Amino acid sequence: MAGNTTSVTRRTAALILAVCVDLSLFYASGCVVTHSVFGHIARLWVSAALRCLALTAVTLLILGDLSPLLVRVITAHSLLPAVFETGANALYHEETQCGLLADMRCWLMCTGASLAGALFWEVIIPDTDDAAAGKEKKQKARVLFMRVLHLYKPDYLLLLGGLVFLTLAVLCQMFIPFYTGRVIDILSSQYKPNEFISALLFMGLYSLGSSVSAGCRGGLLLCAISGYTCRVKVKLFGALTKQEIGFFETTKTGEITSRLSKDTTLMGRTVALNVNVLLRTFIKTLGMISLMLNLSWKLTFLVLMETPITGLIQNIYDTHYQRLTLAVQDSMALANEVANEVLSGMHVVRSFNTEKHEARRYDDRLMDTHNIKTRRDTVRAVYLLARRITGLGMQVFMLYYGRLFIRSGQMTTGNLVSFILYQSDLGDNIRTIAYIFGDMLNSVGAAGKVFEYLDRKPQVSTDGTLKPDQLTGHVSFRHLNFAYPACPNKTVLQDFSLELKSGQMTALVGPSGKGKSTCASLLERFYEQQSGEILLDNKPLKSYDHRFLHKKISVVSQGPVLFSGSIRDNIAYGLDECSLDEIQEAARKANAHEFIKQLEKGYDTEVGERGGQLSESEKQRIAIARALVRQPQVLILDEITSSLDAESENKIQQALASCPNQTLLVIAHKLKTIERADQIVVIGDGRVEERGTHQELMDRKGSYYKLREHFFTEGNSPQ
Ligand SMILES: Nc1ncnc2c1ncn2[C@@H]1O[C@H](COP(=O)(O)OP(=O)(O)OP(=O)(O)O)[C@@H](O)[C@H]1O
Ligand SMILES: [Mg+2]
Repeated sequence: MAGNTTSVTRRTAALILAVCVDLSLFYASGCVVTHSVFGHIARLWVSAALRCLALTAVTLLILGDLSPLLVRVITAHSLLPAVFETGANALYHEETQCGLLADMRCWLMCTGASLAGALFWEVIIPDTDDAAAGKEKKQKARVLFMRVLHLYKPDYLLLLGGLVFLTLAVLCQMFIPFYTGRVIDILSSQYKPNEFISALLFMGLYSLGSSVSAGCRGGLLLCAISGYTCRVKVKLFGALTKQEIGFFETTKTGEITSRLSKDTTLMGRTVALNVNVLLRTFIKTLGMISLMLNLSWKLTFLVLMETPITGLIQNIYDTHYQRLTLAVQDSMALANEVANEVLSGMHVVRSFNTEKHEARRYDDRLMDTHNIKTRRDTVRAVYLLARRITGLGMQVFMLYYGRLFIRSGQMTTGNLVSFILYQSDLGDNIRTIAYIFGDMLNSVGAAGKVFEYLDRKPQVSTDGTLKPDQLTGHVSFRHLNFAYPACPNKTVLQDFSLELKSGQMTALVGPSGKGKSTCASLLERFYEQQSGEILLDNKPLKSYDHRFLHKKISVVSQGPVLFSGSIRDNIAYGLDECSLDEIQEAARKANAHEFIKQLEKGYDTEVGERGGQLSESEKQRIAIARALVRQPQVLILDEITSSLDAESENKIQQALASCPNQTLLVIAHKLKTIERADQIVVIGDGRVEERGTHQELMDRKGSYYKLREHFFTEGNSPQ
């Protein structure tokens, strides 16, 4: 607390001393000129240098160091009178209040301008707190922007065309107010028909030029954006489908789809739309300022003094508005989530009679959205009010000085009309520049998110190259340790070793959640084990070519997923060439041919979204046919019998027995179905607890025996 007080006292002392020293030097320079020691411009620059040195010295002596913000304020404050006077002298051969007899008005004006400028800088490009972080962020934004631009390569011609038309449109648009003023001048003075007609003609030509160019510019740029967005979406989708399964389990689907749909669109806007608007506004602003300087430089400087205030208000508003808009989007997403969940699970809602509860839940979410929207709209209302007040204040000033200048003959009425038209556009332009700057950072941020996925290397490598002509299908798990990426602290397999002999049937049994399906997933290389290895024909699984491996190892999983399309498409899924005979053969083995034949369109019957138009057992049998049609060397059946009746199960078992060279891994709960397996492996707590044939395990009276007992006592017949 005491430290704080000392610091405030020191700052106040520094401020008072600095003002005293500065004012003394400022007025002293006036005395020098009356004694005509130097020419008056040289005197101003010498005085500026002296004041800059003196202010720096005072600040350093009292405060001990100089922040970048103070350096900017001191430099601008000391140099402004000299710059102002030199500029006015060189450009307009006029003397200002900062001239021969520099007075208090000049000092106050320069102090105000330097403080406003420094404040504006601090808000737009802050460097006091986390300068390093800000710098790094800007650098990152630049790199991202260049990458976005690079992806636009195929559309460079469209962009270039857009840029040319943009410049043309802006140039034409800029001259319209100028000719409006001229027409008024011609009408208010002596009417000269030739001048009037030529002014009208130019006005018409510029209006036409501006409209045509603006249309062409918009069309070309929209074309470029659309092509670009499509390209990036395809690229991103390709990169996403290469990611390992763990990535999809640890990343929310909503986030992935939002990057795919929203961020790619935002990213496309960065270059074609934001840069377009920024460039257009920038060129227009520069042109307008030069035309306004031409009309009245004094009035122009007066109008420009509004810029820092407008920029500041816009900046504060954008920050709050964007934050609240994001909050509205999040809260709307939550409300939609509730609606989706309820509508898709309507039968559960009905049977548990929770309609009212769900309606209340939805209402609560909507109320949250409504509250945030109200806050956002209040911020907008305050912003509009502040904008109006500053705008109106400036207009009053402008009209007051405009009248003075017309009376003193420094400008005509037409000039003032042109000036007012430019001025109202200028305010909008400055606000647009500030807004687009923020929006551009946003879209570059979206690009960053898209590039993060595009650059992501899958953590389960697919770089293997082995494609042997002969494969026996001998699989061995050696001392595997494995935990899922979503739960890295929960070890599922621990020092797990297992051998699947070629051409033999191995059955994997054990209580629920002990890691049976995990073994199948690891064999499919969905995940990478933390230690240990899996060998196929004595070669590491990861050294095999990705496509080859998935043709040789097939899994029929617990809840098979079909894709919309025909039954034929689903069975031949992922195979480039597959005849109808092969498809039918696989369907016969999977006991699916009979039911498919009875369907009206047979193999061309649509299965619906996720196979929704088929029963569980039918889906299961098509999934088995899909695995069998590849004639895999290693076939894994994970609980396929759960939705099959006894007859289907028998037929499938017979069909599988007719492929003697195939290595078969059957994961089952119905223990009866695996009695004939060459080897039965009992898995418990991530380890192999027992292995042997059915008879050996029954004689041992260990885990397998207990598991069967358990089924009997629980009333689950092992069949
Ligand atoms: N994708 C996953 N992410 C995180 N943990 C998982 C994942 N899949 C399974 N697990 C966990 O790993 C353990 C083993 O699961 P697994 O599916 O291999 O069991 P299972 O033996 O096949 O069981 P069931 O007989 O019920 O099918 C379980 O505790 C489960 O909660
Ligand atoms: Mg399982």
